[in-house]
Amino acid sequence: MHAIILLGGPGSGKGTAADMLRKETEYIHVSTGDMLRAAIKEGTPVGREAEKFLTEGELVPDDVIIRIVEDRLDEGTGHDAYTFDGFPRTLGQAELLDRSFEGRNGSIRHVFCLKAPPEILIPRLTGRRICRSCGTNYHVVNIPPQVEGVCDNCGGELYQRSDDEESTIRHRLEVYEDQTRDLISYYDKRGVLAPVEAGKAPQDTMGEILEVLQKDGA
Ligand code: AP5
Repeated sequence: MHAIILLGGPGSGKGTAADMLRKETEYIHVSTGDMLRAAIKEGTPVGREAEKFLTEGELVPDDVIIRIVEDRLDEGTGHDAYTFDGFPRTLGQAELLDRSFEGRNGSIRHVFCLKAPPEILIPRLTGRRICRSCGTNYHVVNIPPQVEGVCDNCGGELYQRSDDEESTIRHRLEVYEDQTRDLISYYDKRGVLAPVEAGKAPQDTMGEILEVLQKDGA
């Protein structure tokens, strides 16, 4: 089993890049944010525990996160390739992941750190709309649907994430800066960190990631 990690502030394009990787490579997209939102929607115990943290733009406790990731890994074959989107987010989670991977003979190939300034990230998120049925992403200016509020793919209703309100986005950015500083130097020291310029078009960001992956034949 092996994994790549996508680190980056809210709106840096982790989900978009992970989805493109899923379509173009064998990497399976694992997003802790998506798993938490699904748990909230289903009203599971994890969802009830996590909801307050997501609404306020705070991080969900490490023990909850590692539990959902391990459950997800247990569903695999043991030989899969994963893209972790938004996980790990703290040094504690990185250490728990290392321990989990030791027991699973897993390795972390690359940690891509997607970087873009707040003046690019904030409008991406305030304009984001998502289909309730199929999860397709839109943007009110950059990728508008043909009919306002309606998904082009399936006709589902488009909604705005509750944490995509500007003051919550600013708080999420602060939390990211604060929590990931140590994480970045942790992976840098291990020689697996690859900075990626994420203020460009999605396919350009993706091009940088694929170039690194192709160099080591992943
Ligand atoms: P999560 O769902 O992971 O949110 P996030 O990290 O804030 O990131 P986003 O999903 O907002 O952005 P993204 O980088 O994926 O960008 P995207 O590709 O969607 O986490 C949400 C919450 O869950 C956290 O606040 C926390 O509470 C909790 N949580 C999750 N994981 C956790 C963990 N490990 N530990 C603790 N708590 C955790 O793109 C955004 C928008 O921009 C889209 O509309 C897209 O179309 C557009 N876009 C993307 N790339 C480009 C581009 N290059 N040019 C123009 N537009 C673009």
